[in-house]
Amino acid sequence: MKRVAVLTSGGDSPGMNPAIRAITRAGGLQGLEIVGIRNGYQGLLDNEFIPLDPHVVSGRIRDAGTFLQTSRCPEFQTDAGQERALQVLKNNRIDGLIVIGGDGSLNGARALTRRGLPVIGLPGTIDNDLYGTDMGIGVDTALNTIISLIDMIRATAASHRRCFVVEVMGRASGYLALMSTISTGSQVAVIPEFRMNLEKIVEVLDRRFDSQHNNSVIVVAEGVCQGAEFMNRLTANGKVKQEVRLTVLGHVQRGGTPTHFDRLLATRMGEMAVLALRSGERGSMVSSINGKMQLRDFDDVLSRRKQLSLETIRLARNIGIEIGDVVEM
Ligand code: ADP
Ligand code: F6P
Repeated sequence: MKRVAVLTSGGDSPGMNPAIRAITRAGGLQGLEIVGIRNGYQGLLDNEFIPLDPHVVSGRIRDAGTFLQTSRCPEFQTDAGQERALQVLKNNRIDGLIVIGGDGSLNGARALTRRGLPVIGLPGTIDNDLYGTDMGIGVDTALNTIISLIDMIRATAASHRRCFVVEVMGRASGYLALMSTISTGSQVAVIPEFRMNLEKIVEVLDRRFDSQHNNSVIVVAEGVCQGAEFMNRLTANGKVKQEVRLTVLGHVQRGGTPTHFDRLLATRMGEMAVLALRSGERGSMVSSINGKMQLRDFDDVLSRRKQLSLETIRLARNIGIEIGDVVEM
């Protein structure tokens, strides 16, 4: 193992830059040549390689996003695309690859592993929907961004005795919605893992409106529906007593400066990826379980669906958050 490439793929997440920095620094100190591939799998197919060294990554620990840039690349999902990618890597004398991204990107990493290339993945996604790791890189920062925005919304909600519907990201996962509901003291989480109960939601709002706490916040995960659709259902037939407003947080959720937690997680995972490749590991994702770094097989990670923890669900219910009804399987 002499030359190792790194790329970021899929949606950017705050902490990707600190991970690239750690890979570059740890790799260099391990005697490896580290090469960056710009623009994800698309950049790989387009032969966009740049040498990385501590100078190039200097200061990146503080930056959100990914300076290598990222993309979504349908061509890479084809056999022909993957074969061409392998050829490009071979032309660039790459012995191993580190892929930082979410579920889709790690599927791509597994495809390259199956074609014989040593690949290690890092979970880089704000959604926290990857099985086998407690946290993905960027989740903590995204949550901190979300809660500071919801805190601001609460100020105006309280001033106007309003209810706010706040749509947050998370793809098919309700993790960001549920955790931010808990940590902002919001009243309702509408998440894909549970069936929303509109009658109960209206009851919660009305009860609060009639009390001193006459404002409420409902956090809606985008995996359920768009916030606007939820608003329409909530306010149809004048069901709610108070005014309701909608805020869609959108991509601002991905742009926060990496928190201490994410800088450290990304640095630990980046270092672990380098050590893993050097010691002959391949085909696995670096994961964090109970604070310890581990390697988890891609097959294990990608064949299972991450669930919300029962403890978190219990916590939400026990502090009075309305999260809906259990979906029968
Ligand atoms: P994320 O990694 O954030 O989940 P995507 O699902 O958009 O983002 O995936 C990013 C890229 O990974 C895709 O554009 C594609 O190039 C590649 N990819 C996704 N799924 C697969 C797959 N099943 N096989 C190979 N490559 C994939
Ligand atoms: O996977 C990360 C994520 O931010 C999801 O939460 C969201 O659904 C999606 O990416 C948005 O993707 P795009 O940046 O292509 O709009």
